[in-house]
Amino acid sequence: MPVEKSNAPIGIFDSGIGGLTVAKAISALLPNEELVYFGDTMHMPYGEKSVNLIRAYALKITDFLLNVKKCKAIVIACNTASAAAYEVLRDIHIGNVPVINVIDPMVEAVIADNTINRVGVIATKTTVKSGTYQEKFYRRKPTLEFTALATPLLASMIEEGFFNNNISTAILEKYLSHSELDSIDAIVLACTHYPLIKKEIDTYYKGKVKIFDSAEIVANRLKWILEKENLLTDKRTKDNLFYISDYTESFAQTAQQFFGSNLQLKENNLWE
Ligand code: DGL
Repeated sequence: MPVEKSNAPIGIFDSGIGGLTVAKAISALLPNEELVYFGDTMHMPYGEKSVNLIRAYALKITDFLLNVKKCKAIVIACNTASAAAYEVLRDIHIGNVPVINVIDPMVEAVIADNTINRVGVIATKTTVKSGTYQEKFYRRKPTLEFTALATPLLASMIEEGFFNNNISTAILEKYLSHSELDSIDAIVLACTHYPLIKKEIDTYYKGKVKIFDSAEIVANRLKWILEKENLLTDKRTKDNLFYISDYTESFAQTAQQFFGSNLQLKENNLWE
């Protein structure tokens, strides 16, 4: 692999701030890597959209990250887009650019834990409806009891910075007390927005249910793939870049909390 390619940035995308949880973990694990993040705030929430529409968004964003920003790898830092578009993206770019989704590494992390007999997944409507988690768990470990609950209010609530208050706690409790999630040993936060309310979820379960979120798991998977493909950079080239399809104050604030105030944030409506 030519040296220039390993010094290219890593492209990461989500509908909004959720993927920042993954980007942050990547930046902590691989501090020399340059990241180009795309938050499709204009089309958020993805979880309420059809598979075909999400696929079209994912193709457009990936085209920008690869052809304009010349990224060396793509991280789909969104469960909904991973469920809707991973296979299409992987097949288009196979042998050319690694495409990493957030679902496979998560499923592997859960099945590797032999203390878990019953797992609950909370996610957007589109992710739950896709059946992707259920199918992947069943294929790899048919004995694992599986249950999934759509929690559609959470992503938009988090995107707006509306959490850690009485109303958000009440909404969360309403979801988590649902009978679908009775007697689980582990809960998968199958939306990259949810790590931002991980503490509240842990408080609800009083630390008795294992909580899996994708941030570090996906960062480790990415590192492994970049190593394998000889794509890890040997020098820091430029600063991270953040794009959003529509400017929102809440994205700007959260991105600054995650990456500091010198952050380079640009609005870029790819659909114009
Ligand atoms: N963060 C996204 C996910 O992981 C989706 C949030 C949304 O746009 O509905 O599923």
